[in-house]
Amino acid sequence: MNIVYVEKVSKEYQLGATVVKALKGVDLAVEGGEFMAIVGPSGSGKSTLLNLIGCIEKPTAGIVKVDGVDVVNLSSNELAVIRAGKLGFIFQTFNLLPVLTVAENVEYPLHLKPVGSKEKKERVDSVLKEVGLERFSAHKPAELSGGQRQRVAIARALVGSPSIILADEPTANLDHKTGTGILELMRGINKKFGTTFIFSTHDQKIVTMADRVVELRDGERAGD
Ligand SMILES: Nc1ncnc2c1ncn2[C@@H]1O[C@H](COP(=O)(O)OP(=O)(O)O)[C@@H](O)[C@H]1O
Ligand SMILES: [Mg+2]
Repeated sequence: MNIVYVEKVSKEYQLGATVVKALKGVDLAVEGGEFMAIVGPSGSGKSTLLNLIGCIEKPTAGIVKVDGVDVVNLSSNELAVIRAGKLGFIFQTFNLLPVLTVAENVEYPLHLKPVGSKEKKERVDSVLKEVGLERFSAHKPAELSGGQRQRVAIARALVGSPSIILADEPTANLDHKTGTGILELMRGINKKFGTTFIFSTHDQKIVTMADRVVELRDGERAGD
């Protein structure tokens, strides 16, 4: 069984009087444990595809299955359960909450889970150690570099032990060396825990680290 299965998916946005076709019949099957990249020019539909897989948006047509569950017709409560139980998210702009400490940011996704406070702390400590930031747990995001902030975001994505992590251009706001370090960290987590990673990127050098590359162009699969 595929951990992610997308068939003939399209997504249209109504923008005033015009319809924007962000995805036009995309198929994608991902196996558990894959470390795969989605590439393509700006506007080609990468974020839209990740948001559909991440149960953040619903397709206009087509099938989206996450870990065997058809998510297209689920209620927003049911989708929230899937997001909290199976998915982790990493964004280009890190999306940390500035008023919270590093540890509080990482703990945040556990609010939705029936996890006791002792176990919460153990999980937060463990994932912060995984990303090499255990000494920074009491700091605020503003006190960290871009690379460190993205490591916090990776720890936050990991804390719920998701089977899939979706990363939308996770290195776009980082210099090349820092970005490569972030990809190496993600790769290490993929190997150690078997977590499936689907990331979008513009960075050709980073693409070479992926098991597989899927190209989007103008809302369609290209080049394979
Ligand atoms: N919420 C939205 N409303 C209207 N148009 C959107 C929205 N989100 C994305 N689009 C459009 O859909 C297309 C694909 O966007 P996106 O998935 O963000 O591409 P990428 O991530 O590859 O840059 C673009 O034309 C974009 O302008
Ligand atoms: Mg995008």
